[in-house]
Amino acid sequence: MSLGMCLPITMPSVVIIGSQWGDEGKGKIVDYLAEEAQMVVRFQGGNNAGHTVQVGDEVFRLHHLPSGILRRGKAAIIGNGVVLDPAVLIEELDGLESRKIVTDNLRISDRANVIMSYHKLLDGAEERLRKGSKVGTTGRGIGPAYSDKVARLGVRMGDLVDPGALSERLQFLVPLKQRILDAYGDQARLDLGSIEKEYAAYGQRLRKYVTDTGYLVHSALRKNRRVLFEGAQGTMLDIDHGTYPFVTSSTTVAGNAASGAGVAPLALDDVYGVVKAYTTRVGEGPFPTELHDDLGRTIAEKGGEFGTTTGRPRRCGWLDLVIVGYSASLSGFTGIAMTKIDVLSGLDELKVCTHYALDGKRVSRIPADLRLLNRCEPRYTKMPGWPDLDDASMKRILRRGYQELPANLKKYVKYVEKTLGIPVVLLGLGRRRNEILDLRKKKWTARPRK
Ligand code: GDP
Ligand code: IMO
Ligand code: MG
Repeated sequence: MSLGMCLPITMPSVVIIGSQWGDEGKGKIVDYLAEEAQMVVRFQGGNNAGHTVQVGDEVFRLHHLPSGILRRGKAAIIGNGVVLDPAVLIEELDGLESRKIVTDNLRISDRANVIMSYHKLLDGAEERLRKGSKVGTTGRGIGPAYSDKVARLGVRMGDLVDPGALSERLQFLVPLKQRILDAYGDQARLDLGSIEKEYAAYGQRLRKYVTDTGYLVHSALRKNRRVLFEGAQGTMLDIDHGTYPFVTSSTTVAGNAASGAGVAPLALDDVYGVVKAYTTRVGEGPFPTELHDDLGRTIAEKGGEFGTTTGRPRRCGWLDLVIVGYSASLSGFTGIAMTKIDVLSGLDELKVCTHYALDGKRVSRIPADLRLLNRCEPRYTKMPGWPDLDDASMKRILRRGYQELPANLKKYVKYVEKTLGIPVVLLGLGRRRNEILDLRKKKWTARPRK
């Protein structure tokens, strides 16, 4: 075998990407597909993510762990592109273990950067300093941890599990961070000794999971194992392509699945964009199709639109196909997993945004300049609604499939497919694991490679 260890002709992998501003239902989709996969990999973000999986009446909220962890025997990988808060991960592991979920199959990249307690303090301090232009972060220290990674001031998981390396790193970093907090006018006092002790203990606890995960993912692909890449956040929160500066600090588009997991771009096969049937956003920033009226509040209530991580209410609005189309072009969606279509049931009429108008001109692509985006007026196509899905009709639909869906719901789905030119492969009809219609013609189709 050569050192480069080329990939085989076909590799069945699927990347799951949030196509809007996060919370599209990625956790549920990953959990569903994980049944057929052998490995699930998180490749970016941190515990700003909150991915919900509902099994029967039991609800699991995952922040760090890949959603595949709930399926026994699947390898669960936290890749190098993730920033990781060890205290949160340990709490999550303990929580799952107390619910009889086996977590032995977890592996964490030795290259992943650690979110330190001072990152959370800095996150808060920077938000306070932004005054009128707050990002509305989750306060989890994500931005400062990624900043340190890029500035080469990070602590990596490989350091965390090595007390000598950790001590050396912190002796230099903690005083530096204190100076920054002081300059920000923050009152916090960092104590080197206690930070070192706290984090060394986390390192010892997590040590058994830490390894070169890129090699594991690569090896799984070489053996033709089915690998799922689980994106966090959404395209409009991407550090480059999103509504900057109201974004997160990582690359959320499909291209980063390769780099953030430590494998080659050709390892990525299918890319499914998760599209909520309407749009939501948590935190600040532009949102062209936002509803500020009772209808927005009704959708929020019906959809249970409260943040999984922070509990903040999510802003709601109509489906925006300019955004989803932009997202599709950035990530190359080969399929759409549409979620929460059930939430739109019972409305007389629905609207779908197809383009914006700006100074009398048609705009079909998101402008980088937020001043322009803020002036974009959404233009809608109106669609007829369909009746509420009661228990009996839901059961019938889940038993007999697509044909049983109300005609106008099918029209809505078809309209999205036709406008984007991408098939809807999964259709979410409820919170529970089984409340999903699988419309894939073929499962796990690995494209032949040259
Ligand atoms: P994620 O961050 O993309 O994984 O999404 P979240 O878990 O933060 O938010 C999605 C919410 O919608 C969760 O409460 C899910 O249980 C719920 N959900 C996911 N898919 C569906 C669906 O098809 N219908 C309904 N009604 N709820 C869904
Ligand atoms: P999942 O994976 C929705 C938002 C925050 C804020 C901005 C920056 O569950 O879809 P950060 O803490 O990342 O620096 O905050 O990004 N945000 C999310 N919104 N879902 C998420 O993750 C998010 N992760 C971050 O609300 O506006
Ligand atoms: Mg979420």
